[in-house]
Order: sequence, then C-alpha cells, then structure tokens
Amino acid sequence: MKPRKITDHVQFLGVQDFDRRLFDELIPLPDGTSYNAYLVNGSEKTALIDTVDPAKRDVLLEQLAAVERIDYIVSQHTEQDHSGTIPDVIASHPEAQIIATPKAKPMLVDHLHIDPARIRSVDDGETISLGDRTLEFIHAPWVHWPETMLTYLREERILFTCDFFGSHFATTAIYAHDKGRVYDAAKRYYAEIMMPFRTFISRHLTRLADYDIRMIAPSHGPVHDDPAFIIDAYRRWVGDPPDNLVVLPYASMHGSTQAMVDHLVAALVDRGVEVAPFNLTVTDLGKLAEALVDAATIVFGTPTVLTGPHPSVVAAAYLTNALRPKLRHAGIIGSYGWGGKAVETVRSLAGSLRLEWFEPVIAHGLPRDEDYTGLDRLAAEITARHKEMT
Ligand code: FEO
Repeated sequence: MKPRKITDHVQFLGVQDFDRRLFDELIPLPDGTSYNAYLVNGSEKTALIDTVDPAKRDVLLEQLAAVERIDYIVSQHTEQDHSGTIPDVIASHPEAQIIATPKAKPMLVDHLHIDPARIRSVDDGETISLGDRTLEFIHAPWVHWPETMLTYLREERILFTCDFFGSHFATTAIYAHDKGRVYDAAKRYYAEIMMPFRTFISRHLTRLADYDIRMIAPSHGPVHDDPAFIIDAYRRWVGDPPDNLVVLPYASMHGSTQAMVDHLVAALVDRGVEVAPFNLTVTDLGKLAEALVDAATIVFGTPTVLTGPHPSVVAAAYLTNALRPKLRHAGIIGSYGWGGKAVETVRSLAGSLRLEWFEPVIAHGLPRDEDYTGLDRLAAEITARHKEMT
C-alpha cells in the first residue's frame, strides 16, 4: 500500500502482513500482523518513526522512494520487526541520524551491526525540533524490552507507542473502528507480550495520564483515534481484582482426566463460577494466554505419562509461569496408573507465581465416587475464594 495521510504532517507507512501465521516461532497470528512506520514532516526536518520487518523491506523502501530527505529515524524498540530495516533505510538515506535510548544504542549495534556513530542517544523527556513540530521522547523500559521508548508529537497530540497498545491484526483500515475485533486482538497481544511486565505497564499508564493524547499510533495493528478505548482496556487488564474465572488447561489420554474435567466444569458452573477449559491437543496458545489475563484461578488437568505430567501440560504450566498473570489460586486434577510425580512437577513449573494451591484431586485409573467428591470439594473451595475477592 502507498503512504496514507493521518494528518497534514503525519503519514501512515508500513506493511499489512496478512499471511504471517507465527511470530518469534512461538506466537500464533490468526489475523496476521502489521509493521507500522510513520513519517512526520516538520517545516524544517523529517522523521521516520520505526521501520518494518526485514522480510518486508522492499515495501517500506518503495514508500520512501520519493522522500528526498530523512533527518531522523526514531528507533523506539530494537526488536527486528521494527528496527530490522534501519540498515536499508540508512543505505538509501545516508543523511539520516538514528534516535534511540542509551540502552538501545548498543543493542542496535549488536543486533543490526549499525555504526554507533550513526546513533544519537536521547534522554527521557528530551525533545527534537522538526521546525514547527516537536518530538518528545518518553523512556518506557520493559514494554517489553529494557530499551523501549515512546514518542509524543506535541503539536498533533499523537503518541507513537511501538508495541505498547498494539495488536497483531492486519487490516486495510487505518483506525481501530472495528472495536470488537481490535479489543480481542489487543488483549491477546497484551497477554502474549506485555503481561509479564504488568508492574511497569501500570507505571507507564500512570505517567501517560499527564499527556493530552488525541491519537495513539502503535507499530502493530490499527491506530487508536479514540485513545480512551485502549487505555481503559489496559487499565482493566493490569488492575486487580481478577475475575470470577477458572482457566483449565488439560490433556487426557484415555478419558479419565477428561471425565474429571467435565465434572469439575459442571460443578463450578453450578456454583456460579465461569470456566475456560482448554484441551491442549487442540488449543491455540494465544487464546489460553488471553484467558489468563482475567482469571483468578488455574486448574491443570493431567494424566501421568511415564512418571510425570503430560508434556502439553508441562508446556502450559511453563508458559503460565512465564506470562505472570494475576492468578491467585491453583489446583491440579488428573489420573495415574502406577504412580509418578505429576503434581510436584506441575507445581515446580509454576513456582514463580504467588499462588495458593488447593489439595490436588488425582484418581487411580478411571475416577470413582470419592474422586468426584474430591472435585466437588475443590469446586466449593474455589467458589469460596472467589467470593472473598468481591
Ligand atoms: Fe513488535 Fe517487540 O516487537
């Protein structure tokens, strides 16, 4: 697509990557993604904010072909989907100076082999004049790397945010007017990328309250011309308390664990607790991550494979531990044939989370009445804990 006008001084560049289905060889992309770049034209100088994934370099270079001079390339974040085409842009625009945080400078050198003499470090709050337009740089560490920053275009009241407030959502629409789809994509993105850094995100949200923001322009997904929509969503996602929701990732080999999962789901629903079960053999991990944003409790369901949990449950426990959701309680249900350490292994994999663990319910073979009684007891305990939150 050609550059598209956002204001008289700002153009929307970059690539809508409709076909990409995996990010970082890890994150599913059901709706593709975009790599947004923005060209800001002041009366005296021009700045390019972020670039695109190197696989799509030709698109950006074509968009910039008619741009005579680029004075600054603002690199808000060093991950290559935004910085990876900087070497190509400076090759075609040798006049351009790269703007980045002090922490980003050596990272740009290491990851892209950029000559450090081309990079100017900017302090938190520092400004650069483009003539009649001013860029203010806001350091925002751990969104989601340590070197990240935001850029506020003062006269237009536009905040450029790179990954922050972004979404993996390829669309021909510039603006986030399809709010249902954007909300879902942005929440999923928050869960996968931002949730481990909730404390930092919360601080950045507080700081941004001091800025008069008309528009939020992320480097993935559509632009927010209703900033309150996405800012309020982020406040809910980072805030407490969690919802009256149990996430239940599980696998079942011969039906015993499945029967226990079905019983527990019904017992929780009977008591007014929402449940999101995820059969891990067919689960989109992005959906699991998204459900973890709000959940108060997680229950892992696992059969015993050899001496431990099912490998899919191992992966789910490891992922949950890494994403650091605001969970408060956890449980384990499942079955075994001749012993093993499934419970201990799952608990250790989620060891970084501050969780209250319920008594596990583990059946020997096909569950019996006493196992179903144990599941009813677990459902009652979960319900009681959830009621304490309200
Ligand atoms: Fe979209 Fe952290 O890169």
